[in-house]
Amino acid sequence: MTVSSAPGKIILFGEHAVVYGRPALAVPVTQVHADVEILASDRPGIWIAAPDIALHSDLNSLPSDHPIAAVIHNFLFLSRTSFSPAGRGAEEEGSFPNLSIKITSTIPVASGLGSGAAVTVALVRALSSHLDYPMSDEEVNAFAYEIEKLHHGTPSGIDNTVVTYGKPVYFVKSPPSPARGGAGGEVETFTVGTPFTIVIGDTGLPAPTRDSVGDVRKLWEAEKERWEGVFDEIGEIAKQARNAIERGRTKELGGLMNQNHVLLQEMTVSSPELDRLVETARTAGALGAKLSGGGRGGNMIALVEPEKADSVASSLMNAGAKRVIVTAVGRRSNAP
Ligand code: MEV
Repeated sequence: MTVSSAPGKIILFGEHAVVYGRPALAVPVTQVHADVEILASDRPGIWIAAPDIALHSDLNSLPSDHPIAAVIHNFLFLSRTSFSPAGRGAEEEGSFPNLSIKITSTIPVASGLGSGAAVTVALVRALSSHLDYPMSDEEVNAFAYEIEKLHHGTPSGIDNTVVTYGKPVYFVKSPPSPARGGAGGEVETFTVGTPFTIVIGDTGLPAPTRDSVGDVRKLWEAEKERWEGVFDEIGEIAKQARNAIERGRTKELGGLMNQNHVLLQEMTVSSPELDRLVETARTAGALGAKLSGGGRGGNMIALVEPEKADSVASSLMNAGAKRVIVTAVGRRSNAP
């Protein structure tokens, strides 16, 4: 049996502006994860069970653009073509063993916590290991970026990157180029001077990232100068935040989160539910709060002193959050 796991993620600073080449900061959230188990099977074909989404099917019965089928087809295509016949991978059509693949995930779907990227990364790593087709982190990341593009239109690449590397990342999208392969951008990992605590609050509403990214594009197309200015401000916030995190001046992050949230509101990607949770967290003693990810639904994050984490978390639940996660950024394991 082969098993593989990939964490969820949150964006700390810079969502949306990152699509336009500004830097963004994201960190893995290990309290939630996608897990894949692959077993050799007697039954002919590749059988997939994903009980969380009530999926029990063989690969050939799924539409080829189904997110899970797309990962498997792309992997099989890659492993058959890139390095065959001399190198890695299966050499002949039909030479793949019969497989039984089980996929589970504790990452809420469409909530801005990177559930799609985590399933892709866990699945491709499990296939690569089970079928003896080794892939580097860079290759896994580039693979996951291609799948993200299928589902999110014009993603920056930050989600697949943080999920693949499982480390805090400072990410800058590369300029578009037909010749460019890779995973979508320049990646730097950064050090966390002093660990800090984040409370994540889920509105329970889906975050329609493709729509919100598309709507921001329409705003930008109509008034490029204005929005380039807003993206510059957000990029500056992300740079200051990285600096503060590296120097252990984590309290400064609260004000930066608040500033970033105002700019996201201006971009129309917040919502009454997100604003309510952001306000609730601040009133309950958080040092700052903002939405995280694509917005309109999904999650918000709040920076808290560790001793305030529980009370901010229960205030968020009382204000209608569907779940909360407390995570410590920069600890060896980001358990609370
Ligand atoms: C989604 O998690 C983050 C966005 O910036 C989109 C992207 O970077 O692809 C909204």
